[in-house]
Formats: sequence, C-alpha cells, structure tokens
Amino acid sequence: MEIVPKIIVAIDGYSSCGKSTMAKALAKTIGYLYIDSGAMYRAVGLFCMHHRLIIENQIDLVRLKEFLPTLRIEFNPNGQGESDTYLNGVNIEKSIRTLEVAHVASQISTIPFVRETMVTLQQQMGFSKGVVMDGRDIGTDVFPKAELKIFVTASPEIRAERRFQEMKTNGESITYEEVLANVKERDERDTSRATSPLHKAEDALILDNSYLSIEEQLTWLLNAFQETIYKIQLK
Ligand code: DC
Repeated sequence: MEIVPKIIVAIDGYSSCGKSTMAKALAKTIGYLYIDSGAMYRAVGLFCMHHRLIIENQIDLVRLKEFLPTLRIEFNPNGQGESDTYLNGVNIEKSIRTLEVAHVASQISTIPFVRETMVTLQQQMGFSKGVVMDGRDIGTDVFPKAELKIFVTASPEIRAERRFQEMKTNGESITYEEVLANVKERDERDTSRATSPLHKAEDALILDNSYLSIEEQLTWLLNAFQETIYKIQLK
C-alpha cells in the first residue's frame, strides 16, 4: 500500500473571508486536524477582558507578560466532527466570537511577545504535520516551509455582508455599517502592524472567493491539495 505523505496546509487572508469555514471543511474531508490560530489570539483577548488587563483601551503589558505562560489554550473535539477552543479547561468557543473580543484580539495580536508565544504553540501543534491551520502569518512565519499555502481574499463589502448575516443569525444586534467598519479597521491593523503584518507568502496560491460558493471553494482547495501531494510523490 502506498503511504500518502502528510503535509501542512497554511491558509492566510483577511478577516471574515471564510477562511475558517473552508479550512474546517478541507480538514474534515482529508482527515487532517484543523487549527484556528485566530481563536488563540481571541482566547488571550478574552482572558484580558475577564481579568481586567485592559484599562481605558490600553492593555496592561506587564501583567499580561506575567500571565501569558500560565494560559492553557487547547482545541478539543466537540462531538460534531469539529473542535472547540478551550482556555484553562473551559470551553470558550462561543464567547470568543463577539465583535468585542475580535476588537481586543486585533489589539493583542500586535504585541510581539504574545505573537512569539502563539507562534511557538502553533508550531508545536503542527509538529507532526497532517494539519490545516488558518490565520494571518501561517505561511509566512509559523510554517514558512508549509507544502501548501493559500492566500484568501474577498472585497471588504462582501466580507462584511457575510459576517453581518452570520451575526444576525446568532441573534446579535448590530448594523451592517458597524460590521463593515470593524472589517476595515481590522484589515488596516492586520496589514500595518510592525510585527508579522498580513501579507501573501511568495509561494502562496491566491484564492479570491468573492463570487465562489462554499462547494466551489472546497473543490478548488481539494484540487490544490491533491496536486501538492502528487508533486511530492513524484519527487
Ligand atoms: O481570524 P480571527 O478574526 O479569528 O483573528 C482574530 C485576530 O487575531 C485578528 O485581528 C487577526 C489576529 N490574528 C493574527 O494576527 N495572526 C493569526 N495567525 C491569526 C489571527
């Protein structure tokens, strides 16, 4: 029997462009572990909110540095074929999906010592390969040697509309304009921060999903995955 090599699939791109949905679907289809690196920054953000480490919009860096090594961030199966995010043993999957946490996570992700810690954790999680990880710096900093790198884009308006529909379904009271402003603010922060700003890795494939259905995206990803495996096997 031929042994199929295991690889790392790195999916990076702007916020709310459906990275997690496609990464999750791909991981499920190919039997890989899915890791949502954004959830890790959100977990740190939630911790700061709960422990009063944010005062007048400023993060208490001294206390955060002290607490950070004590945080246990894990992904555990939720019985529905997916994983939930846990912080120190508590399931925080739902509470990290609010706009407020997204805002704090965006601030948190600009702090170099937080990034360093998260990148190390992510590298450990992907050590045995067979992983689909999504985020902003996966193909550039976390796994610069990932065998398959995808850079996902879609217009801010389309991303805001998708996110708005999702939040409305979850019963959140928010306007489309607020969501659009948040998307643009996060784009700005993600691309302009000093440490690991979001940019396409040179060897990443671009996937503009503005007008693609979820099924079409999955087909595209599966093709890219199979082609990568095929090329590795030929070597
Ligand atoms: O993908 P997300 O919206 O859940 O990410 C939350 C925040 O974390 C977002 O502002 C970008 C940041 N992030 C990052 O800087 N690097 C990553 N690898 C993943 C997320």
